[in-house]
Amino acid sequence: MSKDQELRQAAFKEVGKYQDLVEADPYRLHYHIMPPVGLLNDPNGWIQWNGTYHLFYQWMPFKTGHGAKFWGHYSSEDLVNWTHEDIALTPSEWFEKNGCYSGSAIEHNGELYAFYTGNVKDEEGNRESYQCLAVSDDGIHFDKKGPVVHLPEGYTAHFRDPKVWEQDGSYFMVVGAQTEDLKGAVALLRSENLYEWNHVGVLAGGGEGRLSEFGYMFECPDLFDLGGEDVLVFSPQGLEAEGMKYQNVYQAGYVVGAFDSQNGSYEHGDFYELDHGFDFYAPQTTEDEQGRRILFGWMSVPDQDEQDHPTVKHQWLHNMTLPRELKLVDGRVYQTPVAELEGLREGDVVEREVELDHETLEVDGVKGEAEELKLEHIDVSEGWFALEIGGAARLVYSSGQRIFTLERESYVDGVVEKRQTEVAELKDMHIFIDTSSVEVFVNGGAHVFTARFYPAPNDESLRFTASDKTTFNLKKWDLRKVF
Ligand code: FRU
Repeated sequence: MSKDQELRQAAFKEVGKYQDLVEADPYRLHYHIMPPVGLLNDPNGWIQWNGTYHLFYQWMPFKTGHGAKFWGHYSSEDLVNWTHEDIALTPSEWFEKNGCYSGSAIEHNGELYAFYTGNVKDEEGNRESYQCLAVSDDGIHFDKKGPVVHLPEGYTAHFRDPKVWEQDGSYFMVVGAQTEDLKGAVALLRSENLYEWNHVGVLAGGGEGRLSEFGYMFECPDLFDLGGEDVLVFSPQGLEAEGMKYQNVYQAGYVVGAFDSQNGSYEHGDFYELDHGFDFYAPQTTEDEQGRRILFGWMSVPDQDEQDHPTVKHQWLHNMTLPRELKLVDGRVYQTPVAELEGLREGDVVEREVELDHETLEVDGVKGEAEELKLEHIDVSEGWFALEIGGAARLVYSSGQRIFTLERESYVDGVVEKRQTEVAELKDMHIFIDTSSVEVFVNGGAHVFTARFYPAPNDESLRFTASDKTTFNLKKWDLRKVF
């Protein structure tokens, strides 16, 4: 048996062995992409190809921890219902023996080309990194072509997560990198045929420009056109917290600028975080056949007390965010849940005009463990307004301070922790609650908060509180279980 077959069999066995335990978890999500067993991290190879959406993911089937990653694979026709496909990549070859790390996919001559990082560590723990290619004619089975990029000069072996696109007759690749003087950077490479790549130089960071003092490593870069500007998304490591900013262990965000495909240069503005919650990292986007720019993120952050999640006892860990459509509005990236998610709605809408006057209310018919809420025409005339979810998470808007806060009971020690951002005026909230996650889109997607949280079993409550007077129009839908 080949190493690849051995690894596949071992992973299948693991899925079968733990299926009942995984499915018995009350915190198993109803409509978010999760691993069948083990740990999931970054979205990879995200693409719509011949009408079908393909989302690959970093997968460790053998434990709820990190290690020699596989590429797992889900496919979908509608962004709502997903099929778990055969494993796309196993770390079976010398150039990827410690993991088929993150990467991307593009279509070329009717085939799917997947670029990923072959992670290799020797006995002393020294790292090597190869950018590898695998080609598929059915989107399911991949033929490995081996390394196509060796480490260019000027970087440490922290060089990974290739994202490839075609522009102006050439192919480009951005890679997350660390320069030899230990600065986070995005490297740019160029190719005419997808097999031979030339290193153009540092595209952003690397101790130069606006991102000169900006951490020691950039992961998962993604450069794309949005509303006529070139947006660079990446996940920097090593930023110090600064007021309400950069509160998680690592960040994920973007700069907006102009990419010159002739000379490979990029001028850009300041960095903004994409999400203000506790759990968001390593996002990847694609342009679908309708021309929408759609993002998936990993709903976690590396090195963040992972083993304390209660799902670990059920032999699985982490999930994706919902798919989000991106728009550029006044130089900022807005995120909204894709319209297809209306297909999750089950039963009739519950609609209420809510008026709170110095009180806490539960609204008749408005509770659940998996639901969508829309609060529109919100008017927090004075003081603060709060929504408590399942007794374990709270959204609070202070009209005096103009600050929006997400609080949750920590899954590590039960102590309440918070994340915040400035919101000049709270107008609307679009909220997706799953058994153990919440995603909040504020003011048409201008601000987003994402988090896992763990309500007490059977606590389906939603409690609205106003310190003074708050009014809004409320809509609520129950959402279907698709996983
Ligand atoms: C980001 C990341 C990537 C790497 C992958 C390994 O979460 O560290 O840089 O390719 O995860 O699973």
